[in-house]
Amino acid sequence: MIRRLDLPDTPGATLAQDARISAPSALRNRDVIRDQLLRIAPARGRALEIASGTGEHVVCFAAALPGLTWQPTDPDAARRASIMAWAAEAALPNILPPLHLDAARPGWAADHGPADLVVLVNLLHLISAPEARVVLTEAAQALSIGGIFALYGPFLRDGRPTSEGDASFDASLRAQDPAIGYKDLADVTAILAGAGLVLADTVEMPANNVLLIANRPA
Ligand SMILES: C[S@@+](CC[C@H](N)C(=O)[O-])C[C@H]1O[C@@H](n2cnc3c(N)ncnc32)[C@H](O)[C@@H]1O
Repeated sequence: MIRRLDLPDTPGATLAQDARISAPSALRNRDVIRDQLLRIAPARGRALEIASGTGEHVVCFAAALPGLTWQPTDPDAARRASIMAWAAEAALPNILPPLHLDAARPGWAADHGPADLVVLVNLLHLISAPEARVVLTEAAQALSIGGIFALYGPFLRDGRPTSEGDASFDASLRAQDPAIGYKDLADVTAILAGAGLVLADTVEMPANNVLLIANRPA
C-alpha cells in the first residue's frame, strides 16, 4: 500500500521547468550517508536503491561510487520522473532509469536482485510493521552472497523515541495512520538476523538517525 502522508519534509517546489523535486532532508543527510557508503560499499557491482524519493541521493551516491551501477526505484510516478530529471542533469553513466518498486510487496526480490549493495533511506517509519518486515526480508533476499545492506532512518530505542522532536514526528505519523510510525532498532536487527544477515555495524548518524550495515554471508 502506498500512503499519501503529510510529512514535514514532503518534497516541495519543482526546481525548474522539468520534473526535478527537492527534499530538504535528502539535502541534509546525503553527504553523511555517502561518506559511510564510501567506507563500506563494494568497489564494483550493482547497487539497488529502494524508495529513492526525489533522486538527489542516487545522483550523489553514484557520483561518489562510480564502480557501482545504480538502480533507483520508487512506487511514486512523480518521484520517478524527478529521479530521471536529476539523473539527466548529472549525466552520469552509472545510473539506470528508475523502476517502479513497491518494496512492501512480497516476492519483489526475485525481480530486482541480485544486488551487491542495497540502500534504503527513510522508509520504515512510514509503513506498518508487517510491511517493514516484508521490506527487510525481501531486501535481504535481493542481496548477492557477500552483498551489503545499508539501512538508514530514525528508530525507537528500547521502545522509546530518542528526542522530543522524534516523539512528536512519530506521534504525527501515528495520528495519520495508527499502523505506521517509528520501528524499534532491536526489532529491526532481529528481523535482519532472521532473514540471514549478519549485522556488521550500527552507526550513530546526525539528528538521532542510525545507519545499520548488514552483510549476507557466504
Ligand atoms: C521520506 S521519502 C524518502 C525518500 C528518499 N529515500 C530520501 O531519503 O530522500 C519515502 C519514499 O518512500 C516511497 N515509498 C512509500 N511507500 C513505499 C513502498 N511501499 N515501497 C517503496 N517505496 C515506498 C515514497 O514514494 C517516497 O519516495
